[in-house]
Amino acid sequence: MSTINYSEKIPNNVNLSEDRTLQRALEHWQPNYLQWWQDMGPEGSQNFDVYLRTAVSVDPQGWAQFGHVKMPDYRWGIFLNPAEKDRKIHFGDHLGEPAWQEVPGEHRANLRRIIVTQGDTEPASVEQQRHLGLTAPSQYDLRNLFQVNVEEGRHLWAMVYLLHKYFGRDGREEGEALLERRSGDEDNPRILGAFNEKTPDWLSFFMFTYFTDRDGKFQLCALAESAFDPLARTTKFMLTEEAHHMFVGESGVSRVIQRTCQVMNELKTDDPARLRAAGVIDLPTIQRYLNFHFSVTIDLFGADQSSNAAIFYSSGLKGRYEEGKRSDDHVLKGHTYKVLDVQGGMLVEKEVPMLNALNEVLRDDYIKDSVGGVERWNKVIEKAGIPFRLTVPHKAFHRQIGTLAGVKVAPDGRHVSEHEWNAKVEEWLPTDTDRAFVASLMGRVVEPGKFANWIAPPVMGINRQPVDFEYVRFN
Ligand SMILES: [Fe+2]
Ligand SMILES: [Fe+2]
Repeated sequence: MSTINYSEKIPNNVNLSEDRTLQRALEHWQPNYLQWWQDMGPEGSQNFDVYLRTAVSVDPQGWAQFGHVKMPDYRWGIFLNPAEKDRKIHFGDHLGEPAWQEVPGEHRANLRRIIVTQGDTEPASVEQQRHLGLTAPSQYDLRNLFQVNVEEGRHLWAMVYLLHKYFGRDGREEGEALLERRSGDEDNPRILGAFNEKTPDWLSFFMFTYFTDRDGKFQLCALAESAFDPLARTTKFMLTEEAHHMFVGESGVSRVIQRTCQVMNELKTDDPARLRAAGVIDLPTIQRYLNFHFSVTIDLFGADQSSNAAIFYSSGLKGRYEEGKRSDDHVLKGHTYKVLDVQGGMLVEKEVPMLNALNEVLRDDYIKDSVGGVERWNKVIEKAGIPFRLTVPHKAFHRQIGTLAGVKVAPDGRHVSEHEWNAKVEEWLPTDTDRAFVASLMGRVVEPGKFANWIAPPVMGINRQPVDFEYVRFN
């Protein structure tokens, strides 16, 4: 089960050839997917040989092999974690019943919506990142971008497999629609807000892969608990791929910081103007990018109180992060949770039924997890002896969704007037000038082992290759 059959047109470990109808449907979708990749995948790179990892098994040890591949030839396929024998539903109203191998009729619409919403983010991020290859700071980084892109493509495959196999004609139509929506398109945008934002430069890309791919991790973790077993098994394998995306983000931002600190020490200055003149990104600008990406990403968890969230949990569709490690009753009826509310323009805590607050529970778990990497970035600054610390903004800062959308809050959590917000917003969020400056640094560095001036080299290469390895052959 754990070995992947690569002799077929669509690599898979789900015995696809035994289900002719499904196989035909997916083989029909495949050229449309490839056409989407040609149109919306990484720009001007279809002919490059890229040192990519490809999944060859779902074993936690050694599941991938590395080699130079042209991206359109990447073996996108369908890989599920092995089935757990006699798996039981471990939360919600169906607690203790056997996990579902088929979709129960009464949950069909909700499950479809969950799978489509997750599936939609995958091609969206490829679209958002499609121009970045033209300004990569090194071959190493270019390769990492492409690795993230092909894996997001595979995550789309993972969701489309579920739609085709379990949702009949509706599912096939959703599969087509996933190739038709476009990130940022006015008429046919992607479903979620953050996936319609631009990723115009590499600092945004690193912030995106640190913060927004981590939202992916938390959503996938919640779905990995699902009573619908095929969804749980699919998302578990997606999580093994997701870890690399967050690594790209965390190490990318860390290397930007390291380089900035090095130049700060060389020039003995913290003056943004002098640092910019020296071609590095000043720390306050990095903080503003952080504020932007963090706040846009935490909106993805949805409204702080949501009856849908309660239904998804109670019916067993979507669990909590690490549901299995929690020691409560896994039903949560009568439990409460503290959320923030706005009263008379001020933030106050209020206690609400936990089932309705499960978006907030997941968001809070996400926030705890994000803070860890920011602390590691601060260690880099500390080690350089510089008295500056990055902070994660308050969760009410710059929100567009839920109760908090109605209130102006500073990054430190202070409620502020409209007047103060307008006076300070340029200190808190990236300005057009910041973005133009960052964009001005984005040249293209293609020689193996060379790095753009604004970013430090990584400590080691990919798959134990040297840092100056030829990760991309441009042909
Ligand atoms: Fe993904
Ligand atoms: Fe990802």
